[in-house]
This record gives sequence, structure tokens and C-alpha cells, in this order.
Amino acid sequence: MFFKKKRLTEIDYTRIPVHIGVIMDGNGRWAKKRGLPRSAGHQAGADTLKKIVTECNKMGIKYITVYAFSTENWKRPKDEVDFLMNLLMNYLRDAEKTLAGENVVIRTIGSRNELSEEIQQQIIKTEKFTENNTGIVMNIALNYGSREEIIHAVRGLVRDAVGGKVKLEDISEDMMSNRLYTGGIPDPDLIIRTSGEERLSNFLMWQSAYSELYFTRRLWPDFNINDLHTAIIAYQNRNRRYGGV
Ligand code: IPE
Ligand code: IPE
Ligand code: MG
Repeated sequence: MFFKKKRLTEIDYTRIPVHIGVIMDGNGRWAKKRGLPRSAGHQAGADTLKKIVTECNKMGIKYITVYAFSTENWKRPKDEVDFLMNLLMNYLRDAEKTLAGENVVIRTIGSRNELSEEIQQQIIKTEKFTENNTGIVMNIALNYGSREEIIHAVRGLVRDAVGGKVKLEDISEDMMSNRLYTGGIPDPDLIIRTSGEERLSNFLMWQSAYSELYFTRRLWPDFNINDLHTAIIAYQNRNRRYGGV
């Protein structure tokens, strides 16, 4: 006899994903639809992020990695890049008051060297301020790109190999994972991308080998708690096989 597995329609709180990744896309289109400058979309997107992280923390998700600025986003007009950097700066500053109070641990991943001295200092300050919190860990991917991250990791491994600290044949997947900016954090179970685009755009390419991908047409500033719950339910209805049966 065959039993068809019942599709979940509500969240199963015993099977919450441990780590989710979010590609927060569609801010520009959200603004355009309203006849507003793209910056208004980014501002609205920052407010959405605060609400979503707070809800993820309440739901018991342990890690959330959010794509805020890619290594490719420097191609945008200077005005927009400047606005985004300023917004990120304010977000980090403000998060010390708001998200820190929610027990969130704030970290950033990506290459810091290209960021302004001011932002680098703020990152150090915010990370330090929240490091002893015990709630969700929020990784903000800032000047982040998977290819840059992989190169960075490979350089470290090659340095160790040349220096005789590790044998070439001993280099393992775990060693590589540990050298990524996400080292020590489990791979994402679920990656959500808003705005209808269905690609990774250089986000967590190593870590997403077995992530469930969820795409929604909702533009990031419109993404709400209900949409988050819908994504989690969709995830819980997937059958993860990892190459097995
Ligand atoms: C995502 O929204 C935010 C960043 C990439 C910084 P976009 O700015 O990419 O918005 P669209 O894709 O142009 O609508
Ligand atoms: C990905 O969005 C980067 C972030 C959300 C920060 P993009 O809007 O930059 O990606 P593409 O250009 O559509 O692939
Ligand atoms: Mg975009």
C-alpha cells in the first residue's frame, strides 16, 4: 500500500532550518514602481531586514546570512554605491541599539580591505558589541563574493602547504570550509531569493552545494513575515536526499 506523504500547510517547529541565506533583491524595482529613487528602495529594504531577522530569531533559526553588497555591486553608479555604504554604516550603528536588544549576534562576511576605514571601524565595534549575545547569528555579506572568498581560502591553504604546515594530499573539504568567511557555521539549509531572479549571483556557492533554493517574485521591501513562513513551509515539504535515496 502507498501512503502519500501529507503536505505541510503549517510550520513544523521541530524541523526549523538551522541556517538560512537570503538574497535580498528587488529594491530598485520596488522604488521604480512607486516613482521613487532607487535609494528609497534600499532604505525600505533595510527596514524589512530588521523585521525578518527579528522573526527568524523568534522562530529559533540559529544563523541567517544576508547578501547586502556583492563584489560586483561596485559597478553601480557612484551615487548608489555611496548611498548603500552610508546605509550599511547607519544600519550597523543602529543595530547596536535595536537588534542587539533582541539578542542578535551581528557579524559581517566578505573582503573588508576595500571598505572605507570608517565602515571597517564600525564593523569591529558592532561585532564586539554583540559578540556575547546568545540569539541568532546574523552574517551580513558585505563586499562579499563567493569567488573572492574561495580564492582567499585557497591562498591560505597554499601558504600552509608551501610552509610545510599541511601536506597537499591532506587538504580536505572540511579544511576548505573552515577557511571560508563562514568557517565554523553549518552550510545553509535554505536560500531565499526575492524579486523573481533565479540565480545565485556569486552568493555562498561552495556552501550551497545541498541547500534548498526558494525563489519568490516578491520584491525585497515587500517581503514580510507571512512570506518568510511560506518559504519555511515550502522548505519543510522538500525531500533532501544528499545524493542518497
Ligand atoms: C538589491 O536590490 C540590493 C542590492 C543589490 C544592494 P537591487 O538594487 O539589486 O534591486 P533591483 O534588482 O535593481 O530591483
Ligand atoms: C545580488 O543582487 C546582490 C545582492 C542582493 C546584494 P544583484 O541585483 O546585484 O544581482 P544580479 O546583478 O541581478 O545578478
Ligand atoms: Mg538586483
